[in-house]
Amino acid sequence: MNRMRDFATAPPSFDAAFLNDPYPVYRQLRAAGPVLWRDDVFQGAWVLTRHADVELALRDPRLSSARTGGWVKRIPGVDASLRGRRAQAGLDAFQRLFGSAMVFLDGDDHLRVRKAMAAGFHPTLVRTLRADVERLTDELLDGLDAHAGFDFIAHVARPLPSRVIGLMLGVDRKDEAQFMAWSDDLAAFIGALQPTADQLRAAQRSLLQMVRYFDALLPARRREPGSDLVSRLAQAEAAGELRADGELLAQCAMLLFAGHETTRNLLGNGLTTLLAHPHAWARLCADADGVPLAVRELLRYDSPVQYTGRRVAAEFTLHGTRLRRGDLVVAMIGAANRDPDRFDDPDTFDIARRAGSHLSFGSGPHVCIGAGLALLEADVVLRAVLRRWPGLRLAESSLRWNGIAGLRGLAALPVTAS
Ligand code: HEM
Repeated sequence: MNRMRDFATAPPSFDAAFLNDPYPVYRQLRAAGPVLWRDDVFQGAWVLTRHADVELALRDPRLSSARTGGWVKRIPGVDASLRGRRAQAGLDAFQRLFGSAMVFLDGDDHLRVRKAMAAGFHPTLVRTLRADVERLTDELLDGLDAHAGFDFIAHVARPLPSRVIGLMLGVDRKDEAQFMAWSDDLAAFIGALQPTADQLRAAQRSLLQMVRYFDALLPARRREPGSDLVSRLAQAEAAGELRADGELLAQCAMLLFAGHETTRNLLGNGLTTLLAHPHAWARLCADADGVPLAVRELLRYDSPVQYTGRRVAAEFTLHGTRLRRGDLVVAMIGAANRDPDRFDDPDTFDIARRAGSHLSFGSGPHVCIGAGLALLEADVVLRAVLRRWPGLRLAESSLRWNGIAGLRGLAALPVTAS
């Protein structure tokens, strides 16, 4: 096997410095070889960092999205906690639910579930949400005094996506803090390159609670369906488009998670990047119509989702390395987005760049179904912030990152306006 080759010095580690700034490590990995084995990623996985290979991994049917099993039980400490029958059953239930989410399905099952969800994310429907997103954004921004300073993550980037996805799912605003806590537990687990047994247990507890929450909503949505996503999915289940074995509940829970964690980081990473580039900020203050193009470049430059995984379903050779059935493959989106073979001067942030080929929303059959919604939220928030506070700036020189490798974002973003 072609393991750990080609490093003149020690291979770079996925340590605290990497979590704060992964780009130097990606550069080293890209230069070291296209297909690298790492023991310290998911108990052992192949790592891809070049744009062409990451795109191939996302589109190639020889790589399966069903990757949740196997390695979970090898997480240090998990084995010991699985001695009792109840513990084993709890982990099995978690893996079954987790593995039923659309993002982990392949082939016909994936197509069937994606079709059931598609109407809820149709571009026409997303466009009609603009007025709601503007209202929710104004509600949050109206309460802030930028001259006194505020934390953009706590007051805007965290609550806004939560309220928007809450609105789409038709869930009660009073449960917002609970959703965010559940969703954060899933993020810490899903976004870790080496998840711990504690992170697995917290994710398991939270996913099962989320599922119970949605299960309790279902009887009323079945009796009196509304226009919300939970009602739509309940109708799809009644029509036989979704299996009645928790498939619907798994989609609801994963939507709640996906709607929260990713868009929060697009808003936070995006604002930070713009404030760190005063010329770009000034250009957008003068012409907010540049925002949509700028958002694409923000996605490329510092992607909220830094990687995704696949499992080899049919053995093949990639750049001379044999990938065997069952091997895990990690496609480093954040590295692909900075590949000099795809983007000129990739480490430069350029709001006029046509960065359409970034992979931040994935590619191929699993390309992000919520991309239109995320772009809408970023557009509304950035325009509102530019309009209200052209003099906004970072209040602290050092940034505090969340420490989650796969879901890169800031723990806090203190800003102030002069
Ligand atoms: C899929 C990123 C926002 C729901 C994906 C994938 C990526 C991604 C990379 C593909 C994963 C893979 O192929 O393994 C992002 C980013 C977002 C964002 C960067 C925000 C900036 C959202 C939102 C929602 C959402 C707002 C829903 C409300 C989903 C779902 C899938 C998905 C359900 C699975 C699609 C499938 O398997 O067919 N997203 N996402 N995402 N995303 Fe997003």
